[in-house]
Formats: sequence, C-alpha cells, structure tokens
Amino acid sequence: MKYEKYPFQVEKLDEKSRKLLESFNQNLDVARIGPKGYLQPNSIHSPLGIDLLNFQARKDDVWLFGFQRSGTTMTQEMLWLIKNDLDFEGAAKEIMDIRFPVFSHNLYMKGQTKNFDNMKMSPELLSIINKYKSLHYKALDKAEGNRFIKSHIPISLSTNSIFDVGCKVVYCARHPKDVVVSLFHHLKMFQPDSFKDISFPDFWKLFKNDCLPGTPWFEQVKEGWARRNDKNFLFLFYEDTKKDTRASLLKIAKFLEKDLSEEDLQRLEEHFKIENFRKNKSVNNDHFKRMGIVEENKEFIRKGQIGGWKQYFTPDLNAEADEWIAENLKNSDLILPTI
Ligand code: A3P
Repeated sequence: MKYEKYPFQVEKLDEKSRKLLESFNQNLDVARIGPKGYLQPNSIHSPLGIDLLNFQARKDDVWLFGFQRSGTTMTQEMLWLIKNDLDFEGAAKEIMDIRFPVFSHNLYMKGQTKNFDNMKMSPELLSIINKYKSLHYKALDKAEGNRFIKSHIPISLSTNSIFDVGCKVVYCARHPKDVVVSLFHHLKMFQPDSFKDISFPDFWKLFKNDCLPGTPWFEQVKEGWARRNDKNFLFLFYEDTKKDTRASLLKIAKFLEKDLSEEDLQRLEEHFKIENFRKNKSVNNDHFKRMGIVEENKEFIRKGQIGGWKQYFTPDLNAEADEWIAENLKNSDLILPTI
C-alpha cells in the first residue's frame, strides 16, 4: 500500500510534557504519534516521513529494530558477520554506519550532514563524510545485493513492507535501568548542547515521563516482544547475549540459516569481548572524534556491563523505577531480564 497522507494520529505535546521539555531546554519540534503517543520529531509526518513509510523492504533484507543503547551495534556486527560468512576483513574495512545504515537517521539527523561542509578534513575523513551523505533512503532503495538496515523508529510507525515481504527482522532489548544510564552518557556525548549539564535524576525524569525521542520505552519493547514467536522475527535481550554470547551467536546463525563451526564461534567470541570491540574502529565511531564532533575521552562502545544502573539510581529513584516498571508490566506478559 502506498500512502499519500501520513496515516497515524499526530497530537500536539500535552502541557506537562511541553513544560518538562522546556525546563530542560529540549527540542520542542516534536509531537506524540500514533495511539501509543511516541515522541517523534515533527518531520515524521512530513512528506519525508511519508516517503519513509512507503520505503519498500526486500525479501533478502535484514532489518534491526531497538531502542537506542540496547546493544544494537553489537547485534548489527553479529548479523553482518554471520550473514557474510565471517568476512572479518570486509567488516574491518568499512565503518558500521555504512555497512549497516541507520534508516531512522533520515529523520533524526536531518540536515546534520550540512555541518560537515565547513570542516577541514583529511581525505580519509572526507571520504567517510561523502559516504554518510550517500546514505539517503533513496540511495538505499536503489542499492543492490543484501541490505542491512537498522532503525530506531518504533516498528508500528515503520514501513509495513518488512512484514509483507517476509524479510528477517531482529529486535534488541535491554533492561530499562541500564538503557537509561547508557543513553544518559550517549546523549551527553553526541548532543552536548541539549544534555551536557543535565543531571542523572533529571534525565531519568525525562525518560520516565516519555519525553525522550522514541519513548514510551515500554511500548516499543512490547511491540517487539509481541512478535517474538513470529516467523522471520528474532527477539534478543542484551543481557542474554552478554551472559552467553555463544548462545546468541548460534541463535542468530540459525535465524539466518548459516552454520558456525567451533573455530568460527571462538573467533566470534573473541571479536565481541568488550575490550576488543571497544578498540575496533569499524564499530566504535572513532571517526567522530577525529572529526572533532565528540570529545576524545568519550566512548561510544562504553562499559558494556550489566547492572551499571546501581551507580546512578539513589534508593529513592530506584523505588520510583521499580514502581514504574511494575505498573508497566501489570497487564503484560513481557519478562524483563534480571540485572
Ligand atoms: P553501555 O553504555 O552500558 O556500555 P547500542 O549499540 O544499541 O547503542 O548500545 C550500546 C550499548 O551496548 C553500550 O552500553 C555499549 O557499551 C554496549 N556494547 C556494545 N558492544 C558491546 C559488546 N561487544 N559487549 C557488551 N556490550 C556492548
């Protein structure tokens, strides 16, 4: 089906959300979209957003969905390597954003590549920038061969063609307490203008009150969870992969209809050890440091631990988080991992 008009309901921000966003100096060019009221940039219901909804998936695509900071980069690398018969050399040669583009960047990073234009860059960095510029969804539409596509747009607001054509779709989730801590660091790193001075309790308030892009978090994850037993759909928890990387690698291989030998598994396990992965320039976004976009002492592949939340939640915040979680799990069969 081709949409001529944006099909989902678009609600202006309610007073409480607007005040909260305003008090933390956040972008107000956002709206509540669809019946779940996802916070999204207004561009989602513009002609661009309609084009994204009309984007056609193909049967041999691999799509990856998940809320930011749920281990999606690690899972992208697993999918890419296993689908490409463990082409470690090919993976090392090209950065992840190019091998496995982020579809939602068309929406969320709109206009940001313009900032690159006045920067003095080495030829190597210029070539990366040119590749970023060519990642437009229209180019992806024409791309030949296997496509790997990641998106942070909730599944229900995405092109339905991924389910019509029966391509492989993966959903990554992680316990929200660790997601919010990881996102806190991530946004301070990539969007310092909006988040540099925010405290963790204030950041938590934005998250809990559905005032960060893509929230309500529970609704996104429940959408993935509801499809977990569907054909061509794989739901993965970050915590399971972290606790037993081999089991997740085998699950992914089975899902992609690939075999892994004992030697393959050992190589992959070594590759995904956090201390190795953090040093891997094709996945750690090191180029943003060399471009001067992020600070030298910040890491995209950060701690890679379960339970980092314990250092950030005071007993009061933790009680509040537990209450919020219990409330959201009340009428749901979703089971969060233990952390
Ligand atoms: P932390 O910030 O808690 O360290 P995403 O890729 O979806 O943005 O998720 C990023 C999170 O996954 C970060 O969490 C990052 O460190 C973690 N991560 C990335 N690669 C990992 C790996 N190989 N092993 C464990 N965690 C990893």
